[in-house]
Amino acid sequence: MSEPPVPEHPTLPRLRDAVQHCRACELWKDTTQAVLGEGPRAARAMLVGEQPGDREDREGAPFVGPAGRVLDEALAEAGIDRAQVYLTNAVKHFRHRTHGKRRIHQRPTTEQIHACRPWLDAELAVVRPHVLVCLGAVAAQSLLGPRVRVTRDRGAPLESNLAPLTFVTVHPSSLLRAPDAAARRDAHAAFVRDLRRIARELG
Ligand code: URA
Repeated sequence: MSEPPVPEHPTLPRLRDAVQHCRACELWKDTTQAVLGEGPRAARAMLVGEQPGDREDREGAPFVGPAGRVLDEALAEAGIDRAQVYLTNAVKHFRHRTHGKRRIHQRPTTEQIHACRPWLDAELAVVRPHVLVCLGAVAAQSLLGPRVRVTRDRGAPLESNLAPLTFVTVHPSSLLRAPDAAARRDAHAAFVRDLRRIARELG
C-alpha cells in the first residue's frame, strides 16, 4: 500500500486520471476502474455516497445503477437538478465478493474509507460546495466521524468545517431494502423531505 497519488494542484480531470493509479488500499486489484465523482466544478451541492456498485464500476460513473435511479427520482421530486450537483462516493473502488458470476456489494472497511479520504478532500477543495450531503453511514463516517448517526441526525444542518452547510440523510439503496411497499413509500417520502430541506438552502 502507498500514499494516494493526489495531484498537488488538483483539478477534476487531473484527479480523474490520477485516481486510476491509486494503490492506497487493495480494492483496485479486483475492480474495473476507480470511479471519481461527476458534476460541475462550480456545483453548489456535493452529494457523497458510499462506493461504486457493479454498474458504476463497469461504466466509470457514480450512481448509474439501481441506487442511482432511486436517487434521481427523489432529487427530481425535491426539485434538485442532478446535472447541477456534484455526485461522488466516500470510496472510489467497488468492494465486493463474488458469488458465481455475481458481484455482491460489501461495505468498505474503516481502513479503506480512511485510505480513500484524500480523494474526497481533493474533490471538496476543487468544488468547494455550499452544501455537503452525506448519503448514508459510510459517507457520514468518512467525513464526519463515528459519532454521527444517520437516523438521529438526518435532515438538519450539522456542524462541520467542510462546507458552510452539511447534512446527512439515508443512502438511496436503503429504500431498495425496505421490507414491503408501505415501508418503501414511507422511506421514499422521508428521503424526499430531507432533500427538500436541502433544496431550500440551494435557493
Ligand atoms: N451506491 C453508491 O454509494 N454510489 C454509487 O455510485 C452507486 C451506488
